[in-house]
Formats: sequence, structure tokens, C-alpha cells
Amino acid sequence: MPAGGFVVGDGQKAYPGKLTPFVLFTCVVAAMGGLIFGYDIGISGGVTSMPSFLRRFFPSVYRKQQEDATTNQYCQYDSPTLTLFTSSLYLAALISSLVASTVTRRFGRRLSMLFGGILFCAGALINGFAKHVWMLIVGRILLGFGIGFANQAVPLYLSEMAPYKYRGSLNIGFQLSITIGILVAEVLNYFFAKIKGGWGWRLSLGGAVVPALIITIGSLVLPDTPNSMIERGQHEKAKIKLRRIRGVEDVSQEFDDLVAASKESQAIEHPWTNLLRRKYRPHLTMAIMIPFFQQLTGINVIMFYAPVLFNTIGFTTDASLMSAVVTGSVNVAATLVSIYGVDRWGRRFLFLEGGTQMLICQAVVAACIGAKFGVDGTPGELPKWYAIVVVTFICIYVAGFAWSWGPLGWLVPSEIFPLEIRSAAQSITVSVNMIFTFIIAQIFLTMLCHLKFGLFLVFAFFVVVMSIFVYIFLPETKGIPIEEMGQVWRSHWYWSRFVEDGEYGNGLEMGKSSNQGTKHV
Ligand code: BGC
Repeated sequence: MPAGGFVVGDGQKAYPGKLTPFVLFTCVVAAMGGLIFGYDIGISGGVTSMPSFLRRFFPSVYRKQQEDATTNQYCQYDSPTLTLFTSSLYLAALISSLVASTVTRRFGRRLSMLFGGILFCAGALINGFAKHVWMLIVGRILLGFGIGFANQAVPLYLSEMAPYKYRGSLNIGFQLSITIGILVAEVLNYFFAKIKGGWGWRLSLGGAVVPALIITIGSLVLPDTPNSMIERGQHEKAKIKLRRIRGVEDVSQEFDDLVAASKESQAIEHPWTNLLRRKYRPHLTMAIMIPFFQQLTGINVIMFYAPVLFNTIGFTTDASLMSAVVTGSVNVAATLVSIYGVDRWGRRFLFLEGGTQMLICQAVVAACIGAKFGVDGTPGELPKWYAIVVVTFICIYVAGFAWSWGPLGWLVPSEIFPLEIRSAAQSITVSVNMIFTFIIAQIFLTMLCHLKFGLFLVFAFFVVVMSIFVYIFLPETKGIPIEEMGQVWRSHWYWSRFVEDGEYGNGLEMGKSSNQGTKHV
């Protein structure tokens, strides 16, 4: 038997394993870690458009909003403190994802998930009971710490747990939870905003306790991944777990490969500096570029500010929250499409199709807003059909994101890193994601005020760049076992020059190359 295990005709490995109820259950529970992230994304925009919330914490924004409706619509929400409220979370998440790298690597994926749940819970409570702006900010920082831990650990957990043939679909459970979190938060905002006495925002913010408890309890009942157990020297336990997860007795091939990958991993003392080695250049590039591009699609302009944006284009507060609910539902539904298609059509197809779709929509939305609002931001009377056209194209845009960059922005990084750099590289992905989420959240309102409808064209430009990047540089990763991913770089026209044969995945890859072309099934 080759050290590397089952090798099919084209030199690609195929480990035995089924989609067992156990693995399904485990992945569904773990994927719920995305709820906290999603809930927060969905809640912030709605809360910051509730007049009672603004009056209490951001009176200057509130006053500006009450002023004459003929003031420039592009600029009415331009307030640094308000954006700081939204963005502080992302800076906190960035820092904690770096800490999470060590926790995830040394103590397992579960512990990071547990920390994520507990910190998020604390933040939700402080926010729900907030009396002053500083309490809001402290609460948001704790929420951010929680998200940093969860987003670092959950995607890795899912990609390691899943049988490789279903890895895409199971991993996208994470993004599905994000979108469900967003939608639930938007629906709650819609109703809480109606509460007489104007304290509904407390329920919106405090409600984050629920998703926090789900991930906290989930992480207590879940097993750790076999990869992580082996990495921490628990070989026997890992083998038993692997049998249970895969639903087959003979898991020795996969097990041996995991052990080999872990030996390689153990030899690395400094995962961070290691990341800078030439052979990890493709991984580092993807760890940075994928989350960067994901944010440069401009999706969070819609997610955070949908109510604000819809307000700007002429809806009342109530109607704009409702439109946000519509975009939220499209987001969930379209994510289901990617769960269905990702392991069938592949990652590259979804990236390229989604990119084209987003591009067209951004151009149309920019044209619509430009035509009505001009450059001075005074729209005059807005006909109903106009608002419907804008919302429709925003929905088609959201769908494009939701089956491409949304889920793949988390899936692809989590499946391409070799074990020895996996945890550190994933932290980079989360940090870059958070930095750019922060930057966009921080400057969006100011950009809207200055660039006006041209803002959408800026994002459209980046969508073109990222699609070309994917086309040229991103290899297809569908159907390849996670500890075997080295082959996609070795056979890539550009990346092959960085990764030399035999340098990868310890003996397991060498074992495989000596058995190339043999059929051992
Ligand atoms: C992104 C978030 C975004 C969400 C929308 C996620 O994949 O990381 O920034 O708000 O998708 O569904």
C-alpha cells in the first residue's frame, strides 16, 4: 500500500468515506458559528437607522436627519462616531483572529469556537443594557473578539471534518449561517423598530445572546477534528474518531496521510515566519487576495447600510428595513444554490459567473442612482417603479455575491493551506477580511457623500480585477482531499515555479509520486 493511500487513475487520491449522519450533524452544528457574524452584520445597519437609537447616542446625526429633506441626500448620515460604532468590531475581530491562530493550533478548533461564543455573549449583554456610547463601543469590541475566534476556527473545522467530495457544500454551511443570521437580524429589526417607547434597539442588540449561546453549547458537544487531534499527538483517539466520522472501518490511508502532514507540521516552530517561505507564496497570496477581493465587491455597503441606502434613495425608515429583509432573503436563497453547485460545478465557475452578474448590476444601479440624484443629491419626486428597479438589481447583485465570493471567500482559503501553516494562514485571511470590512464600513458614508453614484463604479472596477485574478491564478480545488492540495499548485502554470516537487506534504506526497498512475482502489 502506498504511504499516500488510495490512488485513482489520474494520480488523484480517493479516500473511502460516506456522508454519515454523524459528520452531517457535526458540520451543521459547527456551521452555526456563522450566526454570530451574520447576526451582527444584519443588526448594525438597522439599529443605526432607528431614530430612538440615534437620538440617544448620536444626537448630531439625528438632528441632521430631521433637517429639511432638501439637504444633500448623499451626505445625511456622514458621521465619524456612528461609523466608529459599526467599525470598532472589525478591528477587535482582526486582533483576536491572530490570537486565535495559536489557540486553534495548540488547543484545537473547538476551544477557539468556545471562546468565540463566550466573548460574543458578553458583548451582546453589554450592548443590550448600554447607557452610554462607551458601553456600546466596549460591547462591540467584545463582539468583535468573539467573531475573530469563530471565523478563524469554524471554516477550518468544517473543511477538515468533511469528506473531501462534500467539503464545498458542508463548508458553505458556515456562509449559510451568516446569511441566516443577517436575515433574522433584519426581520427582528423591522419589528423591534416598531416598539412604542423606542427601546426596541435594546432587544436587537441584546438578541445577539441567542446565536452566541448556540455556538457556545455547540462547541461543548462537538468533537475536535482528527487533523487537529493528530497535530496535538492524540493519534489513537483521532483514528477512532475518523472511523466514526467517515462511517468506514478502514481509514488507514487517510489516517496515515494525516499523520504525515502532522509530522511536517510539527517540524515548524514559527508558523508565522514560515508563511514567508517561497513555497508558501501561492498560499499567502490567496490568504490575502481572496478576503481583500471579497470585501471589494462592495457587499457590505448593502449589508450594513441597506436601510440607510434605501432611505437615501427615497424609502421611509419602515420601507427601507423591509427592503433590507428582501435582500436578506435573496442572500439566503442564493447561498443554497452554491451549496448545491460548489462540488459539482467547481469553485472557479461560481467565482466567474458571480463576478459577471455583480458587475452588470453595479453598472445598472450606478446609472439609476446617477440619473435620479445627479451630482447634488437632490432627487425630487421618486416614482415607485424607479425604487423597484433599484431594489431588483440590488437583489440580483446580492444573489451573484451569495453564490460566489460570499461562500468561496471562506471556503477556498480554508481548504488550500497545508496543515503546518493552516491556522496562521487562516488568521491572515480573517484579519484581511476584517481590515477591509472595517475600511469600507468606515469610509462608505463619506465616500457616498463625495463619490455619489460613482461609488458603485469603484466596486464594479474591482469586480473586473478580481474576476481576471481568479481566471488566471486560482486553480480548481473541487474534489481534492485537503491534505493533498499540494498538487493543484504543482500543476499550475504560474504557481508551479514556487512549489517544487517533493517539497510538499512530507512523505505522503512523495509516496504518491512513486505510485503515480497505479490504481489502488
Ligand atoms: C462576508 C461578509 C458579508 C456576508 C454577506 C460574508 O461572506 O465575509 O462580509 O457581509 O458574507 O452575506
